[in-house]
Amino acid sequence: MIEGAAVEVENLTVHFRQRDRTIHAVNGLNFRLARGEVLGILGESGSGKSVTLRALMRLLPETCEIGGRVAIEGEDITAASTNRLEEMRGNRIAMIFQEPVTALDPVFTIGEQIAETMMRHQGIGWRTAKAHALELLERVQIPSARRRFDAFPHEMSGGMRQRAMIALALSCNPAVLLADEPTTALDVTVQIQILLLLRELQRELGMAVIFVTHDVGAAVEVSDRLAVMYAGRFVETGRAASVLKQRAHPYTEGLLNANLHGVEPGSRLTTIPGAPPNLSALPPGCSFAPRCTYSEAACTTAFPDVVELDADHRVRCRRADQVAGLRMPP
Ligand SMILES: Nc1ncnc2c1ncn2[C@@H]1O[C@H](COP(=O)(O)OP(=O)(O)O)[C@@H](O)[C@H]1O
Ligand SMILES: [Mg+2]
Repeated sequence: MIEGAAVEVENLTVHFRQRDRTIHAVNGLNFRLARGEVLGILGESGSGKSVTLRALMRLLPETCEIGGRVAIEGEDITAASTNRLEEMRGNRIAMIFQEPVTALDPVFTIGEQIAETMMRHQGIGWRTAKAHALELLERVQIPSARRRFDAFPHEMSGGMRQRAMIALALSCNPAVLLADEPTTALDVTVQIQILLLLRELQRELGMAVIFVTHDVGAAVEVSDRLAVMYAGRFVETGRAASVLKQRAHPYTEGLLNANLHGVEPGSRLTTIPGAPPNLSALPPGCSFAPRCTYSEAACTTAFPDVVELDADHRVRCRRADQVAGLRMPP
């Protein structure tokens, strides 16, 4: 165990066994997130981003098969009891979702939900919890916080609900915040405001954040490091600037080339040619090979080893050197 890691993941796999097939949603992830660091996970729809986050929270259906190891702030949660997981969710690790309506309870006011969570996790009384909740609503820049405290989720706009969701997630001071496409459902201008707010709170509170998106502009905007996900694997990881510059995996190249020119936070992915992978029948070699213009015979027989472009930049592609080299000055 490395001292100081907020999240450590070793060989994580998540499979959903169905009657006639098994969906290989996550296929051997290894990564580590330092305290206070923002990791952006970027990938097309269906690449396994949400399942990965849910695996970190152990919020997956009982029937799925999870392998590998996950540690949050040095604590191995792989075999944690249900009670311990309950304690950790909220206190150490919290999650915000794309559509806050699914996470907020429609029958309680925003203020009640935040204050109740604080009372439950921190053992404080209603008056103290209410005072803290009001501070938090102001901190996420909800205007007229005192009035909004008594509002029900359906009485708020999408942007305000997402702010309330962030306040709820922050209510117990988590060390790790997971954000699953937190701005996708919002208008572009509101998206940018929420992204800036998240970045500001992250810096202020020193949280580690995993930010999942299929929005290239947003990922680049908020992340220290980027992980590009394809068919349940990270195919390229590194400092955001390094990944942007080198684009050493052909899939990264495709994603960024298609989406980075004049891209602004909020713009959607242009998909690259070819069919997305069938997760119940992955090919033996590189999962991207069938769509890859660089692919050669060896790519279709064995999954590629990790190539280290520098100490912090790793790529799973046999041709990474050529792909990156084509773009780098000699
Ligand atoms: N509860 C589930 N049961 C069966 N398959 C699932 C379940 N949740 C997700 N999947 C499958 O896992 C794959 C990855 O999904 P997901 O992580 O949601 O993708 P992303 O968030 O990258 O769009 C998809 O093929 C999805 O259909
Ligand atoms: Mg998702």
